[in-house]
Amino acid sequence: MNQYESKNHPGKFIPIKHSTEDLSVFEEILKDYDPEVIMELGTLKGGLTLFFSEVLPRSSIITFDIKPMELEEYYRLQILNPDQFCQFYTGDILKDKKIQKMISEIIGKMKSRKLLLYCDNGDKMKEIKIYKNFLMKGHMLGVHDWGTEVDPNKALKLLSKDFTRVHNKEHNNTAMAFFIRS
Ligand SMILES: C[S@@+](CC[C@H](N)C(=O)[O-])C[C@H]1O[C@@H](n2cnc3c(N)ncnc32)[C@H](O)[C@@H]1O
Repeated sequence: MNQYESKNHPGKFIPIKHSTEDLSVFEEILKDYDPEVIMELGTLKGGLTLFFSEVLPRSSIITFDIKPMELEEYYRLQILNPDQFCQFYTGDILKDKKIQKMISEIIGKMKSRKLLLYCDNGDKMKEIKIYKNFLMKGHMLGVHDWGTEVDPNKALKLLSKDFTRVHNKEHNNTAMAFFIRS
């Protein structure tokens, strides 16, 4: 797995499932959109979570995984910014109705504000199907493994009615796709 080197603590690394190229495109997208809240579905080791927190230190980050996050690694490395709201939740985002209700309530409070929901768990098509309905006008949906795990034709069929794709110059070479709810 790739390693994300902390920007704030060079020499400290957390495993991440995104390439360096993905992260540079992500950084552009994040800086342009500037979300107040980022919800990551699929934390794994937290490499992307740390990347989010370092690129957007003023954003709140909430991340979910079916397996408990190995936070000890973060504490050992002492790289979490204590001043940033960064919450790790354990639960099944596809089956656990309580988690789904919690996510929908958080999104519900973000009307007319900027929120990024990033789908990066074990079954991204299912994730898109469930979570696209929670998003409101202006919210951003990001999907990982676009073109591999996620069939673009099937996903676009689901999203084309209510979402507009966000394009960026290097976008087509990455494993991610981004959309804004219209
Ligand atoms: C591709 S990894 C996430 C990678 C991470 N975002 C990164 O970039 O480093 C997918 C994660 O989704 C989690 N996952 C799989 N099914 C899930 C479910 N139903 N609910 C919540 N998390 C799930 C797995 O435990 C795994 O850690």
